[in-house]
Amino acid sequence: MAYQEQVTAQRRETIPPHVPADRVVELDYFSPPGVTEDPHLAWKSLHDGPDIIYTPYYGGHWIMTRADDMFAVMQDYETFSNWEFTVPPRGPDSPVLMPNQLDPPRHGPIRSVVLRPMSPKAVAPIEPVIRKIMADRIASIVPKGGCEFVSEFGGNIPPELFFEHARIPKDKLPEMKRYADTVARSDSHEERVAARIGGANYMMAILEERRQVEDLDDDVFSVIIQAEREGRITKEESTSIALNVFFGGLETVSSALAFIVLFLARNPEHRRQLIEDGSLTQDATEEFLRRFGILNLARIATRPTTFKGVRIEQGEQVLLPLHLAGLDERKFPNPLEVDFQRKRAGHFNFGTGPHRCLGSNLARPEIRIFIEEWLRQIPDFSVDPDDKPVGASGVAMTMTRVPLVWPSR
Ligand code: HEM
Repeated sequence: MAYQEQVTAQRRETIPPHVPADRVVELDYFSPPGVTEDPHLAWKSLHDGPDIIYTPYYGGHWIMTRADDMFAVMQDYETFSNWEFTVPPRGPDSPVLMPNQLDPPRHGPIRSVVLRPMSPKAVAPIEPVIRKIMADRIASIVPKGGCEFVSEFGGNIPPELFFEHARIPKDKLPEMKRYADTVARSDSHEERVAARIGGANYMMAILEERRQVEDLDDDVFSVIIQAEREGRITKEESTSIALNVFFGGLETVSSALAFIVLFLARNPEHRRQLIEDGSLTQDATEEFLRRFGILNLARIATRPTTFKGVRIEQGEQVLLPLHLAGLDERKFPNPLEVDFQRKRAGHFNFGTGPHRCLGSNLARPEIRIFIEEWLRQIPDFSVDPDDKPVGASGVAMTMTRVPLVWPSR
């Protein structure tokens, strides 16, 4: 039996005695009711219930539903560890991802290795490259008069842009894309673990090539090898960091692009605003990130604790649906509305605390440039009336299908 099926099969028959009966909700977070129609709305109904709930799925775990509580948990790494940051736990065969799985004080020195190449200053020079790749890929689909966005565009762009950023030769791209695709889209846990392992091996080969370079550059992989040469990290840690940086930006960015393009396909008035006032795209990017949050992160309790009146035992997992934080009306009035003029109240789609996303400086321009280039070349488009979009939930909220049409030229 596959690992995930085993864990699913471990759905608890008996609820632990410390869990109050009024907190128990039957929710498999991979398939909340209504997820295929609209993943975000499928979750939103949890705001009608208690702030902290417990589901018996995946061996049983807690779910925080409110922004302030998620924020507090992400700051308190001494009580809520990152070692198991997904539900169900990643399993013994998955390669370790660093810095994501480490807690302070070990986390900081590992994270610091890649801070510089992920900074806004390091990313700024590749913006024209991002723009050219986006523009070329969009131009190649324009004559078709339509596309299935996820398979024909959104899923392919993030690995390509990462390869540019990390200066990895393009001939390695197809194989890495295959692994990335499986990690992002396969519904088999076994296949996903195999792809992570395949990706790790391939990454090791790329790192090995970089080790042979005498005068290292300042891109992310070269910086990792430089830290290894200086004895700051081991070879195994190099692989874990490279994997984390590579896989961290794949499904997240392609999901964000899919939610945004679907929204724009359905909302001509928002398209018009962005086309008429180009200065809006920066605010639009932040508003889209708030409205269409992506990750269902998790933490594991290192010790028993009491949180808002419920007892969380050591070893229990807490799910943090960050997308639900962006839809919390206690923080954002009319949270379902997309308003580019909204007063910013600080979404944390990129997380908070020590693990704040290392790739946000790359993700933000990718999203902004995508909006600009797509609307420049395809200003008028809609959902294919003969087909329908399909949403999904899981570690990342995503659209698995976004069929679009536009007037042929
Ligand atoms: C819309 C796109 C993205 C979203 C929504 C996103 C979200 C997040 C979040 C919420 C975290 C915190 C994880 C935690 O607290 O456990 C995180 C961490 C991280 N992200 Fe992203 N991310 C995105 C894009 C990227 C990109 C493009 C990259 C790399 C190229 C990347 C690399 C990482 C890494 C390496 C970490 C771990 C940081 C640490 O543990 O110190 N992410 N991301």
